[in-house]
Amino acid sequence: MKAGRLGEWKRKDKIMMFEHKTEEQAREEILSMVEEYYRIFHQKKKTYQEGDRIPYASRIYDEKEMQNLIDSALEFWLTSGRYTEQFEKELAEYIGVKYCSLVNSGSSANLIAFMALTSPLLNERRVCRGDEIITVAAGFPTTVTPYLQYGAVPVFLDLTIPQYNIDVSQLEKALSEKTKAVMIAHTLGNPFDLKTVKAFCETHQLWLIEDNCDALGSEYCMDGVWKKTGSIGDIGTSSFYPPHHMTMGEGGAVYTDNPLLHKIIRSMRDWGRDCMCPSGQDNLCGHRFDKQYGELPLGYDHKYVYSHFGYNLKATDMQAAVGCAQLKKLPDFVTRRRENFKRLKEQLSGLEDKLVLPETCPNSNPSWFGFLITCKEGVDKNQVVSYLEEHGVQTRMLFSGNLTKQPCFDEMRQTGEGYRIADTLVRTDDIMENSFWVGVYPGMTDEMIDTMAKLIKKSL
Ligand SMILES: Cc1ncc(COP(=O)(O)O)c(C=O)c1O
Repeated sequence: MKAGRLGEWKRKDKIMMFEHKTEEQAREEILSMVEEYYRIFHQKKKTYQEGDRIPYASRIYDEKEMQNLIDSALEFWLTSGRYTEQFEKELAEYIGVKYCSLVNSGSSANLIAFMALTSPLLNERRVCRGDEIITVAAGFPTTVTPYLQYGAVPVFLDLTIPQYNIDVSQLEKALSEKTKAVMIAHTLGNPFDLKTVKAFCETHQLWLIEDNCDALGSEYCMDGVWKKTGSIGDIGTSSFYPPHHMTMGEGGAVYTDNPLLHKIIRSMRDWGRDCMCPSGQDNLCGHRFDKQYGELPLGYDHKYVYSHFGYNLKATDMQAAVGCAQLKKLPDFVTRRRENFKRLKEQLSGLEDKLVLPETCPNSNPSWFGFLITCKEGVDKNQVVSYLEEHGVQTRMLFSGNLTKQPCFDEMRQTGEGYRIADTLVRTDDIMENSFWVGVYPGMTDEMIDTMAKLIKKSL
């Protein structure tokens, strides 16, 4: 049969499949085929054997994520829609905040969270160019990039070992008349000292942004009440890039309890527009054509009124669909991360003369992203890491190490302008030189953890 005829036959055959079915029945049939496809082609059959590679992270999913993805694709709405709405509602409930906005990455979430603070709607509390933002130097660059690009000045704090927390005595040293906000990540899932930082922010009228990208599910006890990290500051952010606590391929979220900040976040995310109508819906407030904005003519279409210089950082509904299925698994993911962390730490106990092992921040219950190990004097990190990698254990650095030593800082380092170091970054440098981390992701079995521990011991 000629190729063209074969294509015709295949098409005909497919049309036949749904000929006497409703759209709903056809969709159900496709989704049940997806389940079978998952079972046959994706479900892991192979169990871990010693010698297999142990990645630091991996996606954990089943037929539910694939079915949601296909369901959304068949609907073909594409941009944010019903799955996005569901995801935003359910994530807000999980975190314990009123408002959540889905975006296309954790970096976009950080960008919007910071840019929201520059809104003129915040009056005298607005962050202006030249104002200072307190942060840490050992972390992920896009916790800092948004304010550097805007022209605000990062003021870097050191990280303390073994809790990988910030040194609170430095907060006072970092403070100046220009300080407007604190924006720090919960390093590898371990919350920073939220009680002290929040009190510092309240005393000095500073905004607090929690970069929660590595800590989804972490909890902190604030004045006797357990809360999720990301809900204690003014704004929290998440990343759903595959290695993170849950994934939708690419994705992120910005959340807050503050209605004004929420309005600004939505505006920043959705082109800077003033109107809050969701995609595809017009005139929900009933005032689309009867108000006066700026110097625009009276009644100018509210859909095209811009109260901010914004972006379009929305995610697609297909990403949200995957996220909805992942959210249901999240509590179990968090539990397993905690168990894996505990097991690895138990197995490595007794090595404290050679290694600094991570310790939980007081008053917290971390949802660990990774297990950070710092080599003490006499132990060569590079040799340990090489040994582990050669024996199949995937390792990671604490992201940028000392961010101010990265090539992107070359120009600023030379002029000494555009950033400030609160005190010293001695511990940050120590982390950069002597620390690495391994995974505790929920797909790790006890055997994998035990093998990792064995190899770490052997490497010493
Ligand atoms: C602390 C932190 N913030 C922000 C991000 C950026 O997230 P994304 O990769 O989704 O842009 C990451 C990425 O891993 C991160 O670790």
